[in-house]
Amino acid sequence: MSSDSIPRHVAVIMDGNGRWAEGRSKPRYAGHRAGIGPVRETVEHAAKRGIARLTLFAFSSENWGRPQDEVSRLMGLFHEALQREIDELHANHVRLRFIGDRSMLRSGLRQRIADAEALTAANDGLGLNIAVAYGGRWDIANAARRLAERVERGELKASAIDEAEFATALSLTGEPDVDLLIRTGGEHRISNFLLWNLAYAELYFTDCLWPDFSSREFDAALAFFGSRERRYGHTGKQLGVA
Ligand code: IPE
Ligand code: IPE
Ligand code: MG
Repeated sequence: MSSDSIPRHVAVIMDGNGRWAEGRSKPRYAGHRAGIGPVRETVEHAAKRGIARLTLFAFSSENWGRPQDEVSRLMGLFHEALQREIDELHANHVRLRFIGDRSMLRSGLRQRIADAEALTAANDGLGLNIAVAYGGRWDIANAARRLAERVERGELKASAIDEAEFATALSLTGEPDVDLLIRTGGEHRISNFLLWNLAYAELYFTDCLWPDFSSREFDAALAFFGSRERRYGHTGKQLGVA
């Protein structure tokens, strides 16, 4: 695979944990736990393939509406996985960043997230973004409010708000757009993930349930990406001219 066919930024909707567990007559929680191994493998494989940014959707704004027991177990699992993995991520030069509405999280988890971000802030390896309590609409509304506050304070002119200025107020400020979106679990939808950043992403959907995802599945998605012609509104002929 040539380096220009490797996406700079890959985003993943890690879906299908519940069905994986239900298919084995286990509680849904067992599927979430079984999803941790593939997260590890995916992070390692992204670094190995020279991908610069990886953004994983772990919990959406809408997932708060799940049964309380499932939500609370998921939060416990995030806490536990972060605690267990942070040293190795740091040793591998990963820079960790969380996106989402932190005010919704328990204070213990919030603190652990802040510590992990501070510890890895200066790392120059893979940029790993974890979306927890994240919604694409929340992100855009939040950005609009931040910009409006700057206008109110007289720091910014309303007429200066263009696409580039708007993007500075989003969660993934300074990050390249998503090149490749992978969704496991068979659904063909975005489910309120990175609405702004996915504008020109190539979309790869697989029936593979998240706990079964592996570096082989990841490579299949990368091969799909490598076969796409990205035209950005131009004609195929224009691209040939370079
Ligand atoms: C994704 O798996 C994990 C989260 C949304 C937290 P699901 O829990 O949605 O699994 P399915 O879609 O019900 O199989
Ligand atoms: C999307 O999965 C969110 C995450 C994977 C974290 P969902 O299972 O919540 O999506 P829907 O409800 O099927 O659209
Ligand atoms: Mg699901």
